[in-house]
Amino acid sequence: MNTSTQTKTMKVIAQEKYGSTDVLKYEDIAKPAVKDDEVLVKVHAAGVHIGDWLVMSGLPYLIRIMGYGLSKPKQRVPGTELSGTVAAVGKNVTRFKEGDEVFGWGSAAFAEYVAVAENALVAKPASTSFEQAAAVPISGFTALQAVRDKGEVKPGQKVLVIGASGGVGTYAVQIAKSAGAEVTGVVSTRNLDMVRSIGADHVIDYTNEELTGRYDVIIDTAGNRSLATLRKLLTPQGTLVIVGGSGGRWLMGSSRSLRAMMLSPFVGQQLRTFIASSNQDDLVTLRDLVESGKVTPVIDRTYPLAETAAALGQVGERHAQGKVVITA
Ligand SMILES: NC(=O)c1ccc[n+]([C@@H]2O[C@H](COP(=O)([O-])OP(=O)(O)OC[C@H]3O[C@@H](n4cnc5c(N)ncnc54)[C@H](OP(=O)(O)O)[C@@H]3O)[C@@H](O)[C@H]2O)c1
Repeated sequence: MNTSTQTKTMKVIAQEKYGSTDVLKYEDIAKPAVKDDEVLVKVHAAGVHIGDWLVMSGLPYLIRIMGYGLSKPKQRVPGTELSGTVAAVGKNVTRFKEGDEVFGWGSAAFAEYVAVAENALVAKPASTSFEQAAAVPISGFTALQAVRDKGEVKPGQKVLVIGASGGVGTYAVQIAKSAGAEVTGVVSTRNLDMVRSIGADHVIDYTNEELTGRYDVIIDTAGNRSLATLRKLLTPQGTLVIVGGSGGRWLMGSSRSLRAMMLSPFVGQQLRTFIASSNQDDLVTLRDLVESGKVTPVIDRTYPLAETAAALGQVGERHAQGKVVITA
């Protein structure tokens, strides 16, 4: 592994084509040059999320049409969540200097160094490890925007988080709790204690129990229940937030989201879906939630950069307990 900022090359994970984890190669490429508005970060950790797996596999095909590359990925080096130390700054950068500890989002984070826009980074809390910080950005944005913006969760409301043990779900549980909600997490048996430990008031083991009750807000990250089933679990004026979908190589559950959007204007319940946006204000909000102890990133396991393929393989199985993180 390169340790000097003077070294001209660096190790990365790169892919020339879409496919299973064996398309990921551990190789040397030139270290990125830092542009005027960018920060060069020596990566200490990179979070892995299901979006990385989708871009690796090129599935659903919809993402290729959305701009990731029709026949092969446009971006050779994957990875979008990162933490590390500032190694160099562009001439317009004012907020950071060499040696600062930061975290944020970008492209090509499965690498020893990454050049990131200044406004895609914030200072890492001193009390948070690099691994924890790297586990926050994309999954955290998704959970924050699902709970706060789409769910509009208010104190005292009953919130059901389906997929409460996953990368997004573990943040959704904690953010809904910090908003004052009474939270029920839906999980498989092995995750009951973990989801209680991050603050869920109630847990339902989906492998043994039917989902019951009426909820003001449902955050669905698992994506494998019908709209009719979910609407029966909502209060008459309740809000369903569809975060994820499953099934189908073309759309992977997007048709359910589309049906929800078309039905929503005609029923009392709000049926919402969204694509999370990465932005600095929300990164600051997430940083503050972590720093105050209201949110603790849950890390399933870490892998060295050379073993990123195994990490993506685990994430692709869709049963990680919280987040999987690469260390560089
Ligand atoms: N809208 C957006 O912008 C956006 C952004 C990011 C992610 N997403 C989507 O959000 C979804 C979740 O992402 P993630 O990173 O949290 O995935 P993840 O880490 O793989 O989590 C999936 C969770 O679903 C649970 N699960 C699987 N089958 C279930 C079932 N039948 N009932 C209840 N829970 C079940 C798993 O728990 P067990 O292990 O206990 O089964 C796991 O914890 C994905 O579909 C992803 O594409 C959307």
